[in-house]
This record gives sequence, C-alpha cells and structure tokens, in this order.
Amino acid sequence: MAALRALYPALADGHAYLDGAAGTQVPVSVIEAVAAAYSQGIGNLGGAFAASGRTGAIVAEARAAVADLVGGTADGVVFGPSATALAYRISDALSRAWTAGDDVVVSRLDHDSNVRPWIQAAVRAGVTVKWAEVDLVTGELPTAQYADLIGPRTRVVAVTAASNAIGTRPDVAAIAEIAHAAGSLVYVDGVHATPHMPVDVDALGADFYTTSAYKWSGPHVAALAASPALLETVWPDKLAPSSNEVPWRFERGTLPFADLAGVTAAVEHLAALAPHGVSGAGAGASPVSRRDRVLASMAAVEAYEAALFARLLGGLAELERVTLYGKAARRAPTAFFSVGGVAPRAVAEHLAALGVNVWDGDNYAYELCTALGLEPDGAVRAGLVHYNDASEVDRLLNGLADLLR
Ligand SMILES: Cc1ncc(COP(=O)(O)O)c(C=O)c1O
Repeated sequence: MAALRALYPALADGHAYLDGAAGTQVPVSVIEAVAAAYSQGIGNLGGAFAASGRTGAIVAEARAAVADLVGGTADGVVFGPSATALAYRISDALSRAWTAGDDVVVSRLDHDSNVRPWIQAAVRAGVTVKWAEVDLVTGELPTAQYADLIGPRTRVVAVTAASNAIGTRPDVAAIAEIAHAAGSLVYVDGVHATPHMPVDVDALGADFYTTSAYKWSGPHVAALAASPALLETVWPDKLAPSSNEVPWRFERGTLPFADLAGVTAAVEHLAALAPHGVSGAGAGASPVSRRDRVLASMAAVEAYEAALFARLLGGLAELERVTLYGKAARRAPTAFFSVGGVAPRAVAEHLAALGVNVWDGDNYAYELCTALGLEPDGAVRAGLVHYNDASEVDRLLNGLADLLR
C-alpha cells in the first residue's frame, strides 16, 4: 500500500481522499505520459509528418487500452469529453429511429447522465418512458420488475452497473437478458463500476458501456465501448468532411490527444496492481496479456476495497445518528449517509477541516435522492478506491464521532 500510494504525488498532501467516486487522483506514470505526449511534439491526425503519426498511435493505443479494461473491441471504443456527452450523443442518434408506441426504460438508481438524455430524446421522439424503481429500504434495483417493464416496443434499457451514491450493483446481465429477448438495446453506465471490479461488457450484456477515465486514475476523458458492428448501424450528427468510419464518426472535433496517452498509462497502472508473470511454463511460456493482468488486478482491487468497505460500514453502524442509505447485497465501496441534524455540507466542511475529503449533495443521483426525500441537499458520500487505506477510513470515522460528540 505504501508503494502504491507513493505513485500518487497528490496523496502526499496528507488529505484523506475519500472523494474518489467524484474523481480520483492520478499516478505519476499518467502525469508523465501526458507530459511526454506534449514534450515529444504533438500533431493533429492524418498529417504527413512524424508528430502526426505519433498522435495516431496514441489514439490507437488508448482504444486498445480501454478495450482491455472493459473486455471490448478496440475498434468499438469511442472517446468523448464525458460519459454525459456520450450518452447525449448516442441517445440522440438512436432516437431518430424511434416511433410512437416505442418505449425506453430508465432506472431511479442511475446517475442523471443515464436518465435525462433518454427522457429528453423520448420526449422529442414522442415515445414512452418507463421507470425501474429502487427498493428504498434495501437500495436494490429488483430485476423482476424488468420483465413487466420491457416489451416488444422497448428500444433501449438504460441501467447503471453500480450506483455512484449508494453503491448498488444491479444484476445487469439478467436485466440485459430480458431486454435482448425483447429485442431491446442495453445502455450500461459503467462509470462507477469500472474502478472497482473486473468488467466484461459481453458478460454484462451491455450493447453500450460508458466509463470515465478520471474515475480510475486517468485524465478527464470518457469512453464508450460497443461492438463495431452495432456502431455501424448508428449515424450521429457529424461534420461533412469528418470521417464516416466507426468509431471515428462518433467523435466530434479534435480529441484530447495528450490525455489519451494518459488513458493508456492509467490502464497500464491498473493492470500492474496485482502480481503477474508469464502463463504456461518452459519454452511455451508467454507473457500474460494486458487483459488478463487487468482482470487479475481488478479482482484484487475488488477484494481489497471490500475489506476496507466493511471497516467503514462497521464504523458507521456504531455511530448513533448516522443513517446509511442502501444495503444492497452487491455494492461498490461507496457509503452514502446522513448525520442527524447536521447539513451534509456542514459535515463535509467539518471533515475537510480535519483533512478528510468527502462529497456532499446528490451526486447527480437525482432521482434516487428525490425518492429518498434528500433533495436538494443530498447526503454525505465517502467513496473508497484502491489507494485508500484503513487509517483514512479511521480518520473519517473519528471525525464523525467528533462531530457527534
Ligand atoms: C455513475 C456515474 N455515471 C455518470 C457520471 C458522469 O460522468 P461524466 O462526468 O464523465 O459525464 C458519473 C460522474 O460522477 C457517475 O458517477
């Protein structure tokens, strides 16, 4: 843990960064990769000179890296400024084919970026919006309701792989099975899930899967993974001279090339978290693929974070007047709680004064917070990531105990 934390220059400031769910710090390898892209000379794509060629390689490497992270295909990785922007891009393009009588299914668990773009597209196209509800006591998003919600006219089921507020990890694979049986597409928000677990977009049944690199130690860039064959069927608005090819036609304007070098470095960072070597033995031994190293590393991350999260949950349970929202069976390590009588912002300010960074508000889990009666102030969120340690969790718990004294 000490060696891992030393890779992150920002952690040296002594703050407990428990705000990873809102964005992680970056390791020096990512900072250096971004700096190197600029230092070496950077050009726009498609030029006759070497710097332009280097940029082409940066983009290709970043697509391959994201594909290895989520189990996708490099040619089906689309980059964009944010997961929100990508959801708008895809919902806008898909909705051109919707007609009256169609419907889309959104969930009350999701970040608003996987809700509002679909609702707005549905309103424009004159199609129905159906809601999957959260069990507010458990925080679960029950799968069974999808059998009733999804029908032959369902075009898209938009669902999160993990809630950025209460951590719930719905059974996306089961939901996708119901959706696919009815002929619907499945758009999965993987922004909160990706940093915490091994991801396999095919196993999830995700036709579209979004992830934001700034949640997993990378720069502020997002990616959408889909099969190239599916992307071939979708036509977004685009400029006349820009590429008609997949995935390029989904990328509007010039990409943040140097940041994409950082995306590849971030995936390399994740892939190196767990020990790895060669597969097989003797002359037949071969280096373990980056995909396999990612899977091993993210499994290790999931186990490490689960233990740390248990410590956090145990500590919160011991504090009187702390109300924790959600207790889903499968959860990302993210705690969302209120401290009786104290405004979430005041809790966050008290903790900030102690050098503990937590988030306050609805975290754009707007529908969930509305359903929980928490709007407009939301609650307090402490989100663990792989570089957090037990001492940071204890500082949070002590800070809360101090506030409640
Ligand atoms: C679960 C989830 N989905 C979507 C988003 C939006 O991501 P972006 O900032 O890349 O638009 C966030 C950001 O906090 C998130 O946590």
